[in-house]
Amino acid sequence: MTVENLAILTIGLEPEVQKIIEDLLANTKVTAIPMDIEKLMGDLEVSPCLVISGYPKEGVSVIELAQMLRMQYQGLPIFLCCQSREGFERKAFIKNGFTDAFLLPMDTMNLRGALSDTLAKVSNGAIRVFRPVKIIDVEPGAKLDFDVSVYLSANQKYVKVSNAGDELDGDRASRMKKANVNNVFVPAEQMPKFYQYSAQRLKSIGKSGKLSVTEKKEKLTEAVRDLISNLFTNEAVGFESGQDLMKDCSEIVKSYIIDDAENEWYARMQQVLGEREGTYSHASNVSTFAALFSMGLAVGKPEDLALAGLLHDIGIAELPAELQFKPYEEMNPDEKKLYHKHPEMSINLVRRRKIVVPEIVSKMILQHHELFNGEGFPNGYFGDRICKEAQVLALADKFDELTALKDGKPTMTPSQAVAFLRSEQAKDPSKIHYNPELLKKLISLFPVGS
Ligand SMILES: [Fe+2]
Repeated sequence: MTVENLAILTIGLEPEVQKIIEDLLANTKVTAIPMDIEKLMGDLEVSPCLVISGYPKEGVSVIELAQMLRMQYQGLPIFLCCQSREGFERKAFIKNGFTDAFLLPMDTMNLRGALSDTLAKVSNGAIRVFRPVKIIDVEPGAKLDFDVSVYLSANQKYVKVSNAGDELDGDRASRMKKANVNNVFVPAEQMPKFYQYSAQRLKSIGKSGKLSVTEKKEKLTEAVRDLISNLFTNEAVGFESGQDLMKDCSEIVKSYIIDDAENEWYARMQQVLGEREGTYSHASNVSTFAALFSMGLAVGKPEDLALAGLLHDIGIAELPAELQFKPYEEMNPDEKKLYHKHPEMSINLVRRRKIVVPEIVSKMILQHHELFNGEGFPNGYFGDRICKEAQVLALADKFDELTALKDGKPTMTPSQAVAFLRSEQAKDPSKIHYNPELLKKLISLFPVGS
């Protein structure tokens, strides 16, 4: 299939959802062909490579729709995309025939990823899509069955550094490490080769059954996505399902965030940097950073910080859809007022779901937007009126914002991010948003020049 005749069939999508998909396709030559759900069984002039469907109209259940689509489009990936949280049961949808299901706008980044991966696959790599792989997972000098590229943020280009079948040059690898490059990039359609390679490598160094850092990170984000969608969809919850959700939270915190005793503090920090952007990545990154900061700064219990990191922003999903991804600076005063309620909405959601969290975790969630100079929200608390743990969580939240990948570009290195915050606060003492003592201590944890 050539790139020019790739088409995606979009069936019965809400206008906002249709727009999100068209925006995601904007820089590709792939067209979206909208179709009414009633015409589903009719003949089509084009053969699509992917089907994206909305909720069915009244009288047809999502499951029936899934079966109809499966019959009509055998072998094709079929996504469900909608905005309504009511009845959104991702796991059940997948079980019944959808390839994946996306709740928008929360899942926009996941949809983007899944769309890109599908297009890369059906175009046999003619549409180039890269996936980040942790450099720590690629051994210099070993033969690699996949292409390796680096991303040059200055000219926004991927440049290939080794071809499938070649070795990654050791000098180049150490230069990259020195330059704080944490990720290399592998074409999406070659990722199975990477997984195969890392499984073999771990086996050969006696770590059979362990996961590469790349996969661990992918699994963490996926677990967080599952957790959050369960939080929203299990409306009829009793104490027991609240306990189950809490168990899921603890499991995530324990197996992906806290348990990693083999690695040094800074190495663990580096493993988190430069992830795919998006709701779930943010929750898992903040959770990991908060736990690591808690260890490094000796504030609170790492597992409490990790738990608060997972849950701090879940209330955002209850805000109107158009507000969820709007930059704060662009909100009008009424919108800001509403946005300021999200810490409390997160707490309310936790309570409604009967998830019993330690008191300090609730406090952190509630105070994660309070600023050291009293200019934060919702209460405008000042200095040590904000609990120390929440001060650390706020720092982890900001730190993720400063160091995350944006449009594929890494932003700041860890020490650049902390140095940036320190110099901003030194320039203008009225802008002391974060506890200067904590910032000072934090910067001392990073190796010189990192
Ligand atoms: Fe927040």
